[in-house]
Amino acid sequence: MGFNEKQEELVKESWEMMKEDVPGFSLYFFTQILEIAPSAKGLFSFLKDTDEIPQNNPKLKAHALKVFKMTCESAIQLREKGEVVVSGSTLKYLGSVHLQKGISGPQFEVVKEALLRTVEKGVGEKWCDEMKGAWSEAYDQLAAAIQAEMNKEA
Ligand code: HEM
Repeated sequence: MGFNEKQEELVKESWEMMKEDVPGFSLYFFTQILEIAPSAKGLFSFLKDTDEIPQNNPKLKAHALKVFKMTCESAIQLREKGEVVVSGSTLKYLGSVHLQKGISGPQFEVVKEALLRTVEKGVGEKWCDEMKGAWSEAYDQLAAAIQAEMNKEA
């Protein structure tokens, strides 16, 4: 469950690199989501009525940014407190948003795969198994916490 300093460092370091190009990684992230699961298109308000992924769309950027930022924060909290704590929003809110949108377990796996591919692209040569493991763990814990809230409410 716990997260070590090295894992936290790897997540923070890669996030710092990716932050330099938010429009670029947001677009790549959504491209990957739709490549893995084309049916996810209908879920997002900003993708529903368009044939291509909009460039520099504020909502698209906002969701991508939140997923990455919260996963990164989750990594820090896992190291400091041993559990997921989110800031700027509550797990309860996250649970109810995703419940309302009808998001389920397999879709969390799709987003995880897209997230890992995006980090891999974003960090280039720095990509390694340990970095992949750290992001996976931080995301899994966050996703599990959101899904636990969804189950409570359902
Ligand atoms: C909305 C975060 C996973 C689909 C949101 C919002 C947040 C968020 C914070 C609320 C936006 C707002 O009201 O400001 C996260 C995090 C995730 C995650 C941290 C994983 C750890 C997923 C997954 C899906 C998904 C797996 C499904 C593929 C959506 C949709 C919305 C949403 C469709 C509404 C967006 C819109 O149409 O404007 N998410 N999300 N999310 N999320 Fe996620």
